[in-house]
Parts: sequence; structure tokens; C-alpha cells
Amino acid sequence: MDISEDFKQELKRRINIADVIGEYVTLKKSGRGLMGKCPFHGDDTPSFSVSPELNVYHCFGCGASGDTIRFVEEMEHLDYIEAVRWLAQKAGITVPENNEDKNAHRLRQRIYEANREAARFYVQQLYTPEGKEALDYLTGRQLLPKTMTHFGLGYSPKSRFALTNYLMGKGFSGTELIQANLANASQSGRPYDRFSDRIMFPIIDLQRRVLGFGGRIMSDIKPKYLNTAETPVFNKSRNLYALQFAKNKADGQLILVEGYMDVIALHQAGFENAVATLGTALTQEQALIIKHYCHEVVICYDADEAGQRATARAISILRPLGLAIRIVTVPNGKDPDEFMKSHGEQGPARFRMLLEKSGSDIDYRLHKLKANYQLDITQQRVDFLTEACQMLATIDNSIEKDIYISQLAEELSVDKNAIRQRVEQYTKMQQRQTAKKQQRAIQRNLTAPQDWSRSDGAFNLRIASTEDALIALLMGHPDIAVTVFERLKPALFPTSFHRTIYRILQERAANGYDFTLMDISDSLSDEETGRLAKILATHPPEEHPQEAAKDYIEILQEEADKLTPQQIAEADDDTMREQMRKLLNKKQ
Ligand code: CTP
Ligand code: MN
Repeated sequence: MDISEDFKQELKRRINIADVIGEYVTLKKSGRGLMGKCPFHGDDTPSFSVSPELNVYHCFGCGASGDTIRFVEEMEHLDYIEAVRWLAQKAGITVPENNEDKNAHRLRQRIYEANREAARFYVQQLYTPEGKEALDYLTGRQLLPKTMTHFGLGYSPKSRFALTNYLMGKGFSGTELIQANLANASQSGRPYDRFSDRIMFPIIDLQRRVLGFGGRIMSDIKPKYLNTAETPVFNKSRNLYALQFAKNKADGQLILVEGYMDVIALHQAGFENAVATLGTALTQEQALIIKHYCHEVVICYDADEAGQRATARAISILRPLGLAIRIVTVPNGKDPDEFMKSHGEQGPARFRMLLEKSGSDIDYRLHKLKANYQLDITQQRVDFLTEACQMLATIDNSIEKDIYISQLAEELSVDKNAIRQRVEQYTKMQQRQTAKKQQRAIQRNLTAPQDWSRSDGAFNLRIASTEDALIALLMGHPDIAVTVFERLKPALFPTSFHRTIYRILQERAANGYDFTLMDISDSLSDEETGRLAKILATHPPEEHPQEAAKDYIEILQEEADKLTPQQIAEADDDTMREQMRKLLNKKQ
């Protein structure tokens, strides 16, 4: 749906970005804006900046940026419209709806209702004679009746019209059932049940709405699980199984397992903080949700190769968010459900022991790494140590890093300082690489592709960064603007974005040399405002503005004397490199 520009403006007037973000992040005044620790990645030093004037945020660490609406989308895991509604509700204003939204909204409501009715129907079926096999199956897997009820487990009958007929009798249309993915359409267009002869696991969100289902077959027929496909209410990468229960029991920690049955077995055994993904590998979105509810994740995936790969992947997604991670490996290649089953009454106590002796993700990775080497052979010890040092270099927390360095030194009987030095070397190398990557990312973001200064990365970095720096300089030091305006024509800005800003500044100057950001953002689109905010945020005030201005003007003039846009567009890499070399020589 399109939200009218008027309404968006109204919302922005009523809502202060700092108030909204301030509910999640402690913000402190810093220069022109506010700074705090980024809520989207593990942030040790505050690198998250918020500009109330421009109504934008930007993180120097992870690159997250956007306006108030974007922030709410990310933080509350809402889509755009939902975020607007969320904000509107806070501001006490109502979102105008057009017909299309009303229809989409109504369809979603109908799907929720159909899903709820379907869930009830499936539960009823479990306790009929036809459902007896399913009930026996679940009982055979040692689920207690109250566990089945708690999770709303059900059974979808064999007949391919059981649910469809039932729901149509309740007034749902075939289209609604198909949209809900409760039914498929036959060749003739007639709807028939999607799920048949399966154990049904309803997937429920935090508002207790039924989003969809997982259906497990009781035989060896494939696929073992059939899940609700993407629907207007269900997105499998944005939800987690059993989070509606686990969030209240988390107490700082969630257990992440692979399957529905693992979750259920763990909850039954008293570990009600277990959740699972919905038949996919862990996604970034799910990781952010997890971070919202805990600071420590225990990953307890299957011991098989696929499970181990999934573990490595989950670590790589969760660690950058600053979550503490522990890895539980269930012995004898079992999954948590099989583990509980095989230990009977002892199960819960034994699993508790596994949890207690579980190591961190670093322990886990070191252990895996070690298995590749024969440590009694000197060369292999050296190779292992090298890789281990590279791994430890990725740890942000210096205390944590030190603990592993000591551990490694002791284990291999190597001098601790020698290891520490190596790790520090790798840390520096990695920091340099990250810095370079960030620099490239910032450049990519800041300079639009249609501008000729972007036609070659290496060469044009100089132009683009000079333009940025000069604009930031003018806005930060309006007192030097007079001289700059006299010396530099707008045409000398190769990038149209910078040229536009420069012109606006010149026009504003007629009313005095005081460039308030609010005024400037009035003349820009949201995207441009965001881009300008990034430039300002990444360029702190200069110590010697006069000299800096002189340098920047010189560079832009030099550049203008060189290639024409056409030439640049057509130049190959070598020409550009040559050009770059000349440029640098001239400078020295
Ligand atoms: N899964 C799926 N589709 C499949 C197989 C698996 O969506 N064809 C998802 C399900 O969410 C399942 C999870 O992956 O719960 C883990 O799969 P698996 O370990 O094979 O199943 P279990 O949950 O262990 O189920 P069971 O113990 O009943 O075999
Ligand atoms: Mn299993």
C-alpha cells in the first residue's frame, strides 16, 4: 500500500526519532547528533549515530541506516506498513486506508481465522477413530497428552476434502483457503486439502495467531515434513517455532534446535526456552529476533554433518550480533528428542549436565580445528597454531580473547606472549581489511551509479571522497563558504548529488551563512537526506577548515581538467590505473 506523502510528513512531525530509538538504545549527545551502542550488532564502542535534525540513524560499525520507520521495521520485525501503524499508534493518529489496503488487511484477517479454525479441526481429528494411528504415533514418541494439547498438535485426515469441506461449510471461500495455503487448486480450479494423513504442528506467533503448519508424515514417504508455503501471513524466515512460549522462559538464554520434535521434547522435559527455525537454516532476521529475547544462545543441532554445517553457519550469524554462544553436542549422534527418549526419567537431568558442560563457540571451533591436525608432528602443530591464532583474532572482547590465548598456550606448551603477539598481528590485519571493506561500502552507498565519478572504483574514489569532504566542510564551517563559493563553480562537482547540495547551499547563503540541516533536508528526498546524513556523520569537523577547503578545491579542479565523462565511461582498467598513477605522482 502507498502511504500518502502528507501522512508521512505528519508522522515525522509528530514523532521524534531520538525518542523512538531512545527506548531501545541509550543515546548521548555528541557533536551535532546523538550516539549510542548499535542495537543491530555487537557494539563495544558506541558507533550508532542518530540525527534528530535529519530524522536518520546510521551505524559506523555495521552500516545500518535509515529513518524512524526503517528503525521500527528492523527493531520490531515489522514490515513497512506495520511499522507506520506502530508509529502512528504511538503518536495517536490514524493511518488513512485506501480500498486496496482494506482488502489486503481483510484477507490477512480471514487467513488468520481460517488457520485458527483449521488448527481446531486438526486437533479434533486427532481424537477420532481415524486419528488413532496418529495419536498412537505421538504417544509412542513419548509425548504426554498435556504436551500435545499445549502445542496444539493435530491430525489431517486422509480424505483430500476433509478440511476444505469443513471450512467452506464455515463460510470460507475456496480462494481464501488457497491463499492461506490450506488448500491447493486442482486442474479444474477446485480446492482440495494441502495436508493429508499427517501429524499437524501449528506455527503460532507472539500474538497467538496461527500463521501456518508443519505436517509430518508417519511413514517413510517423502517429504517427511510438508510446511505451509509463503502466504500473506506466513514467512518462514521471520518466525521461530515455540517462541511464544520460550520468550517468557528465556531468562537471558534460548536453546536453538533443529526440529519441531526437538523443541517439543525439550519443553516437555522442562527446557521451555527451546526454539527452532521452520525448516530452513537460521536467517539474519531470526537472529535479530533471538537477540531481542536473550543474550546467550545454546545451539543444539544434530551431530551429523549437516547439523555441524548448520552450527557453523548459525555461529557466523549470531556472533557478530554480540550474543554469547554455547554449543551442546548430544552424544552418539542423537538429536535432543532422541536423547530425551533414550534416557527416560534421567533425560532432563542428563540434558542439564550437557548444558552445564557445554563450551563456547570458540571452544567448539578450536576443537573442530584441532581434529584436522596431528599435534605430535611439529609442522602440523605450527599449522594448527597459525589457524587458531587467526580464529582468536576475530574475537572482539579482549578479556575473552586473553582467556583463549592462555588456554591455547597451556595446551600446546607454547609461550603465551608469543601467541598473543601472533593474535594481535592477525587482529590488526583483519581490522585493516574490515576498514577497507567499510570504506568501499560507504563509497558504494554514497555515490549514485548514474554519476560519472562512479564509472571506475579506484580512480573515482578520490573524486567522490573529496566531494563528500567538501560538502561536510561547508556545512560544518559555514564561515568559510564565502571563499569556496567564489572559487568553485557547481559544475566542478562531478556527482550530481553533490552538485545539487552545493547549489542549495549557495541559494541558502543569500539568507545568511547558516546552513541548518532541517532547511536543506526540506529540499531533498528521503533518500538524499539519508545520504547527506551519512556524509555528515562520517566527516567530523576539520581542524583547519581553510586549508582543507583549499586542498579539496584543488583536487576537484585537477580532476575537471582531466578526462571527460565520455572518456571515463569508455576507459578500460589499465587506462584508469595509469591516470591514477599520474595523479598521485603529481601530488607528491
Ligand atoms: N524439515 C522440513 N522438511 C523436511 C525435513 C525437515 O521442513 N522435508 C524441517 C522440520 O522443521 C523439521 C526440521 O527440519 O522439524 C528437522 O528435520 P529432521 O531432523 O529431519 O526432523 P525431526 O524434527 O527430527 O523430526 P523427527 O524426529 O520426527 O524425524
Ligand atoms: Mn528427530
